[in-house]
Amino acid sequence: MKDAAPQTIYLADYTPPPYLVDKVHLTFRLDPEKTRVISKIDFRPNPASQSRDFFLHGEDLRLIRAAVNGAEITPEIDAQGLRCDVPEGPFTFEAEVEINPSANTALEGLYMSSGMYCTQCEAEGFRKITYYPDRPDVMAPFDVRIEGDLPVLLSNGNPGDAGEGFAEWHDPWPKPAYLFALVAGELVNHPGQFTTKSGKDVELNIWVRPGDEGKCAWGMESLIASMKWDEEVYGREYDLDLFNIVAVDDFNMGAMENKGLNIFNSSCVLASPETSTDANFERIEAIIAHEYFHNWTGNRITCRDWFQLCLKEGLTVFRDSEFTSDMRSEPVKRISDVIALRARQFREDNGPLAHPVRPQSFVEINNFYTATVYEKGAELIRMLKILVGDDGYKAALDLYFERHDGDAATIEDWLKVFEDATGRDLSQFKRWYEDAGTPRLKVSERWEDGTFTLEFEQMTPPTPGQDDKPPRVIPIAVGLIGPNGDEVRDTQVLEMTEARQSFRFEGLGARPIPSILRGFSAPVILERETSDAERAFLLAHDTDPFNKWEAGRALARAGLLRMIRDSAPADEAFLDAILAMVQDESLDPAFRALALGLPSQDDLAQVLHDAGDTPDPQAIWEALETLRHAMAEKMQDVAMRLYAQFQVTEAYRPDAAQSGARALANAALGIITRLDGGAAAQAQYDAAGNMTQQLAAFSCLLQAERGAAATEAFYDQWKDDRLVMDKWFMLQIVQATPDKAAEVTEHLTRHPDFTMKNPNRFRATLGALAMNSAGFHHVSGRGYALLADWLIKLDPLNPQTTARMSTAFETWKRYDAGRQAQIGAELDRILASPGLSRDTTEMVSRIRGA
Ligand code: TRP
Ligand code: ZN
Repeated sequence: MKDAAPQTIYLADYTPPPYLVDKVHLTFRLDPEKTRVISKIDFRPNPASQSRDFFLHGEDLRLIRAAVNGAEITPEIDAQGLRCDVPEGPFTFEAEVEINPSANTALEGLYMSSGMYCTQCEAEGFRKITYYPDRPDVMAPFDVRIEGDLPVLLSNGNPGDAGEGFAEWHDPWPKPAYLFALVAGELVNHPGQFTTKSGKDVELNIWVRPGDEGKCAWGMESLIASMKWDEEVYGREYDLDLFNIVAVDDFNMGAMENKGLNIFNSSCVLASPETSTDANFERIEAIIAHEYFHNWTGNRITCRDWFQLCLKEGLTVFRDSEFTSDMRSEPVKRISDVIALRARQFREDNGPLAHPVRPQSFVEINNFYTATVYEKGAELIRMLKILVGDDGYKAALDLYFERHDGDAATIEDWLKVFEDATGRDLSQFKRWYEDAGTPRLKVSERWEDGTFTLEFEQMTPPTPGQDDKPPRVIPIAVGLIGPNGDEVRDTQVLEMTEARQSFRFEGLGARPIPSILRGFSAPVILERETSDAERAFLLAHDTDPFNKWEAGRALARAGLLRMIRDSAPADEAFLDAILAMVQDESLDPAFRALALGLPSQDDLAQVLHDAGDTPDPQAIWEALETLRHAMAEKMQDVAMRLYAQFQVTEAYRPDAAQSGARALANAALGIITRLDGGAAAQAQYDAAGNMTQQLAAFSCLLQAERGAAATEAFYDQWKDDRLVMDKWFMLQIVQATPDKAAEVTEHLTRHPDFTMKNPNRFRATLGALAMNSAGFHHVSGRGYALLADWLIKLDPLNPQTTARMSTAFETWKRYDAGRQAQIGAELDRILASPGLSRDTTEMVSRIRGA
């Protein structure tokens, strides 16, 4: 059980560890209910610390014996850990503990998943394995011996001695405990090989349950591409003889970068054309890259403490986004990232959970693996790169690796390498790490005697605990387009440092149309008075693909707001513009598919709220439906043509070209379905040779309320494949009409294949309900009650996933008094649950507010 009165931890209270570790030796005697962990740890006093308080973290451990320098001791033990007297100078601490992996449903520490043993130690799971200074600034080489009668016994590093019933591992690279991993089970491997740029051979493996061997080829291909890319672009070579990946069914997040032994949620590594969509393939490629890139940005250089989490996560997300841009299409990746940033991070930054990229305090660190730390953290690095230029960035990164290899570092260290490498003062830039909230960037224009002036004003609204937000440095990429559509000024980066600032462009023949914040050069909300005519002009003429897409999006949003507020009809200007764009053969099909997408329910709710309105989820849903119908009417011939034109006839490949073509054809199918009631979708469903085609058709059929037969057929075909079944659960809920969403969800939670113990399945049902915005917020309140019921049930089993999913409620203050009262009551009901975890208590209290 976790502590009843949870403590707040502050960055300002950081002190160095009193003791450092020179060497760790662990022996595991595996048993499903009674695993023994025998540890032998060499400590020495840390000269950088005055304290001689010897404390080891440990939770839910049964201590069998402990010794210091070979002499048995009786330590003082509480719910957090162990204390004992130790000699002056170096000494050896030994312990034997017993733990119960079968009873571990929290999926943190050592647990069992589908018959295999596996671990998850980040952030603070190692303390559930044995007594240890479980903090990232204590780094040590680990030797591990695993005993158990299972064919595959894995840990970090390079393999040592092995034989009947045991295996030994040596990890020469000092690491914090959160990077420890162990896996044991009846696994089979998909092998691979990589030769590093200095000629070292590395053995690669993807380990899976028997039956999944056929789903590993893509992961291996992605791993090899990642290793090569990190050598070529960042000069980073792999540093062990072996790199293992293991697929695990029960996992709280996507994947984990344990040194030399990455552990993956099976949904983030297993792929085959028949069972995975193009989007799955792309995501797997990105996550394999992400975890691999952590080997340098996270493992060789780690974090001093958990407040510095963005040091590894922001940088590694930035690196994986660069990798995806290089492997696929840069503009398409950028647009998708910004859609996700606005949907998840802006939502967080403008609500009760807003926090700085580097938080100042936390109760439960698991609650800070957020879109702000990850995605906004990556945006900050992207801005840094824009500000110092490509060469400056390269010099800074080279210095970072040289200066900090082997360190547990801080954001101050990170910024210092940029300052030292480029001579730039980054003290103002640091505010991006310290201040929460999304800046509003207001721009107005003046035209006088051939001079065009852009005047910017920045303002960041208050966030919990932070009222004043001094101005930040904002890189604003701007280009100017002449009235005839020609670009009259190339992209130029304006550096805004004041609260208000003007920039002049001289010697222009005519008043230009500005294209502002090209490539989304900063994570801000741009506020600009403009007309639909101007938006349509930019959509047609902007040379910056991001802003071209953005102009279309702005046009769609403006039209939708008029539909929602004034029941206006669908906007003809938007329909004309989008019709022209979708037929423009010079544009990438993937880009055209994106341009056909509309702003999400949640996006529109946020915009309405920002403008001082109270969003009505039902009205937003109806406006979106009306607009989709109008698009279908307008585009029917074009949609048919595109659908035929973009059928892929070559053998399936998940590459950018083929996925782009399928995305556009499937977007066209969505339009066609609005008019033919599902005939074309049924034909595609029946003929589908891959999951991308099958799922798109299934989704159209559900949307047209013609999905009953497909729902049954899909189940019969895929009932033995968990990952495909997650799609089956999810799609039925996401595509349910608002009045049916809660009912469909409730029905599916009674399905024999539903289980709340598997986080993927739980997310595929209850998470899907939250994704169906109009259904979740249906005025009946059933959606709220159903989610709260299940969060209350899940919390005792899996606090981490419960807390994460409670964020479905984070936007509640946007809505009307009736909905606020309903949600408020559900939040109170959750908070009143006996024994509620520290994770969920912290999250729900923050959402609930004062
Ligand atoms: N460090 C992991 C990553 O971003 C994510 C992670 C943190 C994680 N905590 C976790 C994964 C708990 C699984 C479970 O790559
Ligand atoms: Zn990561």
